[in-house]
Amino acid sequence: MITKKMEDALNGQINKEFYSAYLYLAMSAYCNRIGMPGAEHWFRMQYDEEVLHMTKMFDYVMQHGGKAHLMQIDEPPHEFGTILDVYEASLAHEKSVTGWINELLDTAVSVKDHATQAFLQWYIAEQAEEESTVGDIVSRLNLAGENGGALMMIDDKLSQRLPPAPLTAN
Ligand code: FEO
Repeated sequence: MITKKMEDALNGQINKEFYSAYLYLAMSAYCNRIGMPGAEHWFRMQYDEEVLHMTKMFDYVMQHGGKAHLMQIDEPPHEFGTILDVYEASLAHEKSVTGWINELLDTAVSVKDHATQAFLQWYIAEQAEEESTVGDIVSRLNLAGENGGALMMIDDKLSQRLPPAPLTAN
């Protein structure tokens, strides 16, 4: 059974994962507008992944005697600038998420909740992977600069992203 403090912290993160999904759906729509169909697809897959992050935590709260509490989701931005700006914003967001997951783990340690500490290890590993993946895309976009051919090649590569594998609750 999770404590009220842990339940509140996990519910806060569920809201942030929802916001992440919202943000990436907005980025997908923006990439459609600027004529980057591969990036549009990539962010749509990222949206799906964030929904899985959210539902995995939602299920965990309920399966460990807590109350899942859904809160209002903030409106994401709708304008992002260049395709490099979009991915830089994504990277900055993922760094924030990593900080929030680390804070959640600190809370689990502070209330001596070993089960939640173990559960959060999956998110710790996932954040390292997400930061690395988005960081690599930012590097490639930086190298491409204004070169239209190079940007088209990157967009083509982004179009090949596969849907996320279904997750289990714990
Ligand atoms: Fe759910 Fe991209 O962190």
